[in-house]
Amino acid sequence: MNPLELLKFYTEAGIDEALEETPQNRLLAVPTPPQTAPKPALNQPEPSAMPPRPKTTASLPSAVIQARELADNAKTLAELEQTVREFNGCPLKKTANKTVFCRGNPESKLMLIGEAPGANEDVEGIPFCGQSGQLLDNMLRSIGYDNSNAYITNTTFWRPPGNRKPTPEELEVCKPFVEKHIALLNPKLLVLVGGVAIADMLNTTESVGKLRLKFHDYQNQYLKKPIKVLCTFHPSYLLRSPGQKAFAWKDWLMVKRFILAD
Ligand code: URA
Repeated sequence: MNPLELLKFYTEAGIDEALEETPQNRLLAVPTPPQTAPKPALNQPEPSAMPPRPKTTASLPSAVIQARELADNAKTLAELEQTVREFNGCPLKKTANKTVFCRGNPESKLMLIGEAPGANEDVEGIPFCGQSGQLLDNMLRSIGYDNSNAYITNTTFWRPPGNRKPTPEELEVCKPFVEKHIALLNPKLLVLVGGVAIADMLNTTESVGKLRLKFHDYQNQYLKKPIKVLCTFHPSYLLRSPGQKAFAWKDWLMVKRFILAD
C-alpha cells in the first residue's frame, strides 16, 4: 500500500499520535514460558501465574485517591491549576501535548463545562479554541458573553487520542479537580455542554434532549449549597446537525435570562 494512503487511513481512523519511538510488531508470537520452570527455593513466594503488569504512571484507583487528596489541598484557582498541570495520574497526559485548564474570567457568574480538549486545544492549551469553539463563542456572544464575563473548562484536562470520548476511568481521575474547580469558582450558573459533560456531572444516562430547558441542581463535597445547572448541545454536534441550532438558541436565551435575573 502507498505509505501516504496508509497514513491517511490511520488519521481517519483516529490513529494520529506516535506513542513510541520505534514501531512494535504486535503480530510476533508471544514467547512461551519454559515447560520445566525451576522450583522456587524454600520460603520464596510462588511465581505469579499472571504475567507482570506493565509499569504505568499509577494504577487508576490510587490515582483517583491521589487526585482527591490534591484537590482537597488546593485552596485557590491558581493552586488548583498548578496541581493539575503537575499531576501525572491521568493516562491521557501521556499522549497529550498540553494541559488544557481554562479560559475566561474567574470572577464570572457563568461557568461552562465541555467534554475534553480536541486537536486545536491540545496545540494551544486553551479550551474550545477550534472550530466548535468558534461556534460556542458565537452563541455566547449572541447573549452578551465572552472571555471577559464567562469561564470555560472541560471534564478532562488532556486530549483523548484521536478525539475519542474520555473513558469512565479518565473522567473519574479528573473528577476531584473538576469538582474543586467548580467550588473555587462558585458560579451562579453551570452550563454543561454536550452529553459527556452532562452524564459525568449529573451522573445520568438521560439524553441532552430530555435534560435541556430545565434547571437541575449540582452538588459536590466542596460546595456549601447546590448550583443551578442548564444543559445544552455540544457545538460539534451542532456543526454536524445545523438544523438543531435553533434549539440551542433557546438554551442560551434561558442562560441569559437566569444570569441577569436577581
Ligand atoms: N470540545 C470540547 O468539549 N472541549 C474543548 O475544549 C474543545 C472541543
